[in-house]
Amino acid sequence: MSRTISAKLPIKEGGINYSSSLKLEQGKVIQLSTELEKASPFYFGYDIQDKFVSELEKYTFDKIFFFTEPHLFEFYGKELYEKISSKFPCVIEFVPPGEKCKYFSVLEETCENLIAKGASKKSILLAFGGGTVGNVVGLAAGMVYRGIRFIEVPTTMTGQTDSTLSNKQAVNGKTGKNHFGLYHAPIFIWVDTKYLKTEPAFSKRSGIIEGIKNGFISDHTFLDYLAEVLNPDVKFTDEELYQLAYNIILSKLEIIKQDPSEKHYGIILEYGHTFGHGIEWLEQGKISHGEAVSFGMKIAAELGKELGLISPEDVERHYYLIEDKLGFKNPFPAEITTETLMDAMIADNKKTGRELRFVLLDKIGQCYNPEGDFLVTVDQELVKKVVENFIQRPRQKIKG
Ligand SMILES: NC(=O)c1ccc[n+]([C@@H]2O[C@H](COP(=O)([O-])OP(=O)(O)OC[C@H]3O[C@@H](n4cnc5c(N)ncnc54)[C@H](O)[C@@H]3O)[C@@H](O)[C@H]2O)c1
Repeated sequence: MSRTISAKLPIKEGGINYSSSLKLEQGKVIQLSTELEKASPFYFGYDIQDKFVSELEKYTFDKIFFFTEPHLFEFYGKELYEKISSKFPCVIEFVPPGEKCKYFSVLEETCENLIAKGASKKSILLAFGGGTVGNVVGLAAGMVYRGIRFIEVPTTMTGQTDSTLSNKQAVNGKTGKNHFGLYHAPIFIWVDTKYLKTEPAFSKRSGIIEGIKNGFISDHTFLDYLAEVLNPDVKFTDEELYQLAYNIILSKLEIIKQDPSEKHYGIILEYGHTFGHGIEWLEQGKISHGEAVSFGMKIAAELGKELGLISPEDVERHYYLIEDKLGFKNPFPAEITTETLMDAMIADNKKTGRELRFVLLDKIGQCYNPEGDFLVTVDQELVKKVVENFIQRPRQKIKG
């Protein structure tokens, strides 16, 4: 049975039309758009694989290279692969699972394999999997013959609601995440929420955390909705997953719409990520991107409080949603110290070549924007103090 979500989703004039009554209709395809500078059609539905081939028929190509992980192929990929290969030449290619595929060695092997197996400028790559598969295949597509077409079929909450809405393709470097990559837009994105059923809880939380982030940075009413529909075991019916994914997608699209380049207002999507990237990098795969961001958002909230931007109650709202409602409540990784985290953030920051900069809130649902810049430079000694306190005294619960 689906939970009642209507109470918390008033349709605001000029606001986002989150759906409070989205009925899951098996096989029905809803069309959205990624809203990015290079916008791609974004198809959304439940159990919609029968319609995939007719979408593919709109394109002229010589061959499809279908990339996935072995276990995803067994779960669902095979069914889609068989539908495609009954009509078109289609080659199956496997990549290592999860973050293991975001290595230069895997990228190189993928590109060389494509050439060896006869990929041409008319070929299309298909990425069937989570954000990692999408990233490495998208990057290969952007590089082979200086760019060929690709399709994303995301199978995780992160893939369906976040990574496919960016056009950013990357692999990791020796000193940080996503150091090497490019922008390359898929010809279309095919989101079937049926795939989310088997996604592990840690991975599902990783996707939902970005939805929570979208609420904190741009729409406090979305947080009320999430507080109502989330549960710490991330157990949902098909219908609930369908509605949740759809509404998280809308929450991100609203932000991209205001800045399709993601370089000005869109930078707010990096909330919690300066800390998060450092933590993720130090943990080397032991925790997910989402869990790292969950710690990052809590530290960013503590930093905002220390700077006098937000109240202790606003900080507590972070802990409530992230720990009590989403279930991200593991203790902070014991091996990370204030010094190692500071060093990791400084190393990762080579990207911008400036001091440590953070996206911060000036209230729930709105980011701090002094002098027209959402990335705020903060004194490193203050950052150090906040991290130190966070590590030693994780949650300062507010009574009442
Ligand atoms: N381009 C961007 O803007 C952007 C945004 C967010 C994340 N990312 C990247 O995406 C990656 C994280 O993506 P992710 O969270 O999807 O992780 P992932 O691709 O590693 O998938 C998580 C795990 O779930 C498994 N899995 C995937 N789909 C499944 C399913 N339907 N059923 C059962 N198991 C399934 C995978 O095998 C993997 O072990 C990171 O590398 C991150 O940097 C990129």
